[in-house]
Amino acid sequence: MAEESPIAAVHLHLHLTDAPASAVLGSALGSAVLALQEPIHEHGLCVHLLGQVGSGKTTLIRGLLRGAGVEGAVKSPTYTLLEPYEVSRLHLYHFDFYRFKKPSEFSEGGFGEYFGPGAVCLIEWPEKAGTYLPPADLRLSLRVLDAGRSATLDANTELGARCLELLQANLRTARAGG
Ligand SMILES: Nc1ncnc2c1ncn2[C@@H]1O[C@H](COP(=O)(O)OP(=O)(O)OP(=O)(O)O)[C@@H](O)[C@H]1O
Ligand SMILES: [Mg+2]
Repeated sequence: MAEESPIAAVHLHLHLTDAPASAVLGSALGSAVLALQEPIHEHGLCVHLLGQVGSGKTTLIRGLLRGAGVEGAVKSPTYTLLEPYEVSRLHLYHFDFYRFKKPSEFSEGGFGEYFGPGAVCLIEWPEKAGTYLPPADLRLSLRVLDAGRSATLDANTELGARCLELLQANLRTARAGG
């Protein structure tokens, strides 16, 4: 890899006041993904979304897909386990493993084949796939609060950190009304 700048943004904590705020965070992340097309084409990107039932994972991913330029219907993969999308040279895969009864269903279902260069894998209920699941570049945890949700983002790789940096810049622009 070329010269690497030190990892700057590895952790981010946000309060999401309502569902549109979750979608805005998703959308800002989607724009970051689009801006990182080249390295994602080379390495792939894996995002784990954690949080209890109804914490806003699908809402956020829907925003992300829109922010990345996906048009048309965005369905929840609760029953299908996987919904695939394509934008430019990227494949985006939205997984929901809630219905797994055991983690080995990940390998038995051949889900590992979707991961790799050019793939953006967005995973709801990653804990259901246990250690079969490839590690996350970015881990996003949502928590239900009395009012709204809290979101914690952690970057585990250089690419994840670049994603967080761009995300922060995009959120600043969104707040400034740009
Ligand atoms: N920041 C927020 N504040 C309040 N409500 C929110 C927020 N984000 C999302 N919601 C709402 O929470 C509900 C559940 O959202 P969503 O379906 O995205 O959750 P989920 O985490 O995907 O759930 P599941 O685990 O069942 O897939 C929706 O009604 C959505 O509008
Ligand atoms: Mg969901």
